[in-house]
Amino acid sequence: MSNAIPAYKLNRLVPQWLLLAALAISLPLCAAAPTKAPEKEKWWQHAVIYEIYIRSFQDSNGDGIGDLNGISQRLDYLKGLGIDAIWITPFYPSPNADFGYDVSDYTNVSKDYGTLADWDNLVREANKRGIRILVDFVLNHSSDQHPWFQESRKSKDNPKRDWYVWRNGNADGTPPNNWRSIFGGSTWTLDPATNQWYYHIFLAQQPDLNWRNPEVRKAMFDVARFWLKRGAAGFRLDATATMFEDETYPNDPNIDGGPPVHLKSYNSSLPEVNSTLKELHSLLASFPDDRVILAESVTADLKNLAAAYGKNHDEIQLPMNFLIGDMNKLDASAFKKQFDAANLTLGAGNTPVFFFSSHDHTRQWTGFGDGEHNDQIAKLTAALNLAQPGTTLMYYGEEIGMGDMKAQELAAAAISSKRPRADDRDRVRSPMQWEPTATAGFSTATPWLPVQAITAKYNVLEQQRDPQSIYHWYLALNKLRKADAAFNRGEYRAIDTGDKDVFAFARVATTGEGAIVVLNCSAQAKELHLNGLPAKTQFGDVILASPTLAKMESPKLSLEPYGVVINRISIK
Ligand code: NOJ
Repeated sequence: MSNAIPAYKLNRLVPQWLLLAALAISLPLCAAAPTKAPEKEKWWQHAVIYEIYIRSFQDSNGDGIGDLNGISQRLDYLKGLGIDAIWITPFYPSPNADFGYDVSDYTNVSKDYGTLADWDNLVREANKRGIRILVDFVLNHSSDQHPWFQESRKSKDNPKRDWYVWRNGNADGTPPNNWRSIFGGSTWTLDPATNQWYYHIFLAQQPDLNWRNPEVRKAMFDVARFWLKRGAAGFRLDATATMFEDETYPNDPNIDGGPPVHLKSYNSSLPEVNSTLKELHSLLASFPDDRVILAESVTADLKNLAAAYGKNHDEIQLPMNFLIGDMNKLDASAFKKQFDAANLTLGAGNTPVFFFSSHDHTRQWTGFGDGEHNDQIAKLTAALNLAQPGTTLMYYGEEIGMGDMKAQELAAAAISSKRPRADDRDRVRSPMQWEPTATAGFSTATPWLPVQAITAKYNVLEQQRDPQSIYHWYLALNKLRKADAAFNRGEYRAIDTGDKDVFAFARVATTGEGAIVVLNCSAQAKELHLNGLPAKTQFGDVILASPTLAKMESPKLSLEPYGVVINRISIK
């Protein structure tokens, strides 16, 4: 992806220091320091949450834009895939400076996406199929077109003035300080009406709400109540880490150095974030049915990630692990450090949350692919993601091997004129590839973004027909997660493969029955002898393998390039 993507989203170019921070955590081999489950297991402690970029999943009314009714039409497909919940990207009214992440009305549905009645219908139909729905709640900022901001900008003494962050600039006409926005440029924009500057960590069209103002808190908590009452199973919270800034707004003496722009000590994970999310957590807890908070909780290290859960598990139940989500290459050693750490050191009762792709991240097929073995690599990363304990996110289309749209295809779409800035992230937001037709079964009209040429090969119909497809691999993995005691609730055990290119771990149920997951992260075939497993380990059958030729002769095994073997073991 090009530099048009904000620095904090360049998952395939993650800064080395960020990885190194986690590599510093050393773990004993085969350490059994498993996360203890709290007494009563909740649905979200072991779920697959499917992210739908609403604009691109399914159009139901022939305008070339995906919508809520389109999702309703595809619920049986989703149920068949074995997912537990859906996170839908923002569907509120929005001027679309950042396609929905600039909200102009928090308690309504954009005409592009349907109506509140469509939402009600979707919830009803999803719940019938045992699927829950999470609303994307954009907390940090609203749109500059939101009536709150329109009021706020009118005058310095407007009752809504303090709903946003306004400051005087310097005498020389420069902004209040030298801070930079995640999307580039200053975090401040001068509003000529009052000659003051407003703060925005993202686009100028996305002014930050002032969460220190009790009226803002109340209004936003009312928004949460609105969706919870209307059947939301919870929220995916947008950009939680940056909800508060150092109130003194000091100049950054090292603006060109130090942590990336979204992880500065003055704008990231301030203590008020914890207290605010604790309050939101209690609000959700006052509703029945285990509502949950999944959050875009970008952190610099595992310690900060652990803190996001709250000392008493009373803040974010599911903070996304960006230390893994931002990984950019198949690296068995880096996987070992990060997955072992997330599973063994996050803290008892904290559910780890894994993902590799999203509407902001490169897709797995493209990001990890080597140009030759991409399908096999897509299967490898699927196994890596889905064979974990805790909760896993799946981005729409990963299950059929969708890749990023080619830069030329995006350029040909010429939609940038409708956007305030070129957004390279649109390459991962192309229409869902249902069938090998011109509009991919996504719409009867011209889709808002072009259908990828590769749809002819990678589409749901074709993938469902081929038993060796990526789609069938996902089905098998999801089935294992649900039905197999080792994968359903089994502990995670670290394993030493003795090979820097091969990552392995085990999942072991309380009965001692388990499975070992071995992933060859290289293009070389491998002959391995696994070390460090308890002497009493017995090896059983292969449960899943790809390519199918993989062989395991305990504890020796051969692996094809990028081969994956999931093999039964028993440790009694
Ligand atoms: C995070 C969202 O995932 C991203 O798409 C959006 O641009 C920013 N937050 C701003 O809301």
